Amino acid sequence: MKVLVVYYSLEGHTEIVARLLTEELGADLLKLELLRPFPDKGFKKYFWCGKSAVFREKPVLRTKMPDLSQYDLIVIGTPIWAGNCASPINSLIDIVRNDYALAGKKIGLLVTNGGGSIKKCVKQIEKTLNGCIFLKPLHFINPSKEQREEIVSRIKTWINENLKS
Ligand SMILES: Cc1cc2nc3c(=O)[nH]c(=O)nc-3n(C[C@H](O)[C@H](O)[C@H](O)COP(=O)(O)O)c2cc1C
Repeated sequence: MKVLVVYYSLEGHTEIVARLLTEELGADLLKLELLRPFPDKGFKKYFWCGKSAVFREKPVLRTKMPDLSQYDLIVIGTPIWAGNCASPINSLIDIVRNDYALAGKKIGLLVTNGGGSIKKCVKQIEKTLNGCIFLKPLHFINPSKEQREEIVSRIKTWINENLKS
């Protein structure tokens, strides 16, 4: 099975899990970068990122998309911003939806947050990529490098429950 893990991470939490997941799955990894990156500190971070997520903006990506038709499973990784997906994920979905025939494709979601609900973000992606087959989301609360073993263990459980028949 050919897998792509594509993710956005402002502060590195989602990236930690995306990298470990990629290792466990033998997947390709793609980090989403913006043409104009968001501030990653202080009030400006919360203001600009929060606003961008709430208004479902689609900031311009610097990252070029590979041919997605070659993948059997695409895992989309995102932090939660103000209850929503991080806005670069809106940009990703927009490109993916318009440029590739993804109906029937398996989609996994990797979501990290500070402890609130992830439901709105999950629904947001499921609704926009209708026709895809969604696996159970993989969710972590502020994962850190120190939790490596625990994260890998949860990733293995998720793989066993979702990808092995
Ligand atoms: C602008 C902003 C808004 C956030 N909003 C929420 C939220 O609504 N609920 C929540 O549980 N965590 C929230 N968080 C925390 C992040 O989702 C969490 O720290 C996440 O793991 C960060 O991922 P990253 O390090 O990959 O960017 C927010 C963080 C930022 C920067």
